[in-house]
Amino acid sequence: MIRIAAVGDVHLDEDVVGRFRPALEELPEHADALLLAGDLTRHGTENEARCVAEEFGGLGIPVITVLGNHDHQCDQVPQVVKVLEDAGITVLEGDGVVLDCGGRRLGVAGVKGFGGGFAGRCASDFGEPEMKAFVRTTTDSADRLGAALRGLDCDVLVALTHYAPVPDTLAGEPLEIYPFLGSYQLGQAIDSAPTALALHGHAHAGSERGTTPGGVRVRNVAHPVIKQAYSIFHLGNHTD
Ligand SMILES: [Fe+2]
Ligand SMILES: [Fe+2]
Repeated sequence: MIRIAAVGDVHLDEDVVGRFRPALEELPEHADALLLAGDLTRHGTENEARCVAEEFGGLGIPVITVLGNHDHQCDQVPQVVKVLEDAGITVLEGDGVVLDCGGRRLGVAGVKGFGGGFAGRCASDFGEPEMKAFVRTTTDSADRLGAALRGLDCDVLVALTHYAPVPDTLAGEPLEIYPFLGSYQLGQAIDSAPTALALHGHAHAGSERGTTPGGVRVRNVAHPVIKQAYSIFHLGNHTD
């Protein structure tokens, strides 16, 4: 089995550094890789990214992340990405990576994603240019996630997003904000490939478990939801 640790929405700043590290130090005994589901920082500053690098760097296992909306807040995404990558953390945005986990290949495709809502209650590509731009941002993100998932040659395939691909894992959030928490288009992208597991964050008041229309297991790993440093998932082959 491939063992994956995951957490999202750690929202690090200087006052949070050290909170996760004791549990992370033990991680190589429990997991082959750590996946971070975005919102690593509070406001996306370069200094906060250094806190993330200090907390999640040098763990002895691969660390793969997507960014979240908070990581975009201060318009310092290139600086944030550079600090993370200098610490050995792989940042995915519409692309993927394949890791060798004891001779078995773990493929992870990631994208931040965006909102738009879910079937029957979603924004549509119609009307004002602002509305079309909003929906096309989601469509483009989902398209890139789907292409990345389908392009990976691996034994076990995982999708990593910040925004939610299904409404199941939003249960507990106000219905009125569902369109800002995720999009069914991300779920369609996940279902377009033999995905074994889809991980996301963003919905702090949501719930842990869900399933795409195609039957892929979805887990909201936002820290306020899982209430621990990380959750561990055990995954077999496509054919298991
Ligand atoms: Fe968050
Ligand atoms: Fe978020």
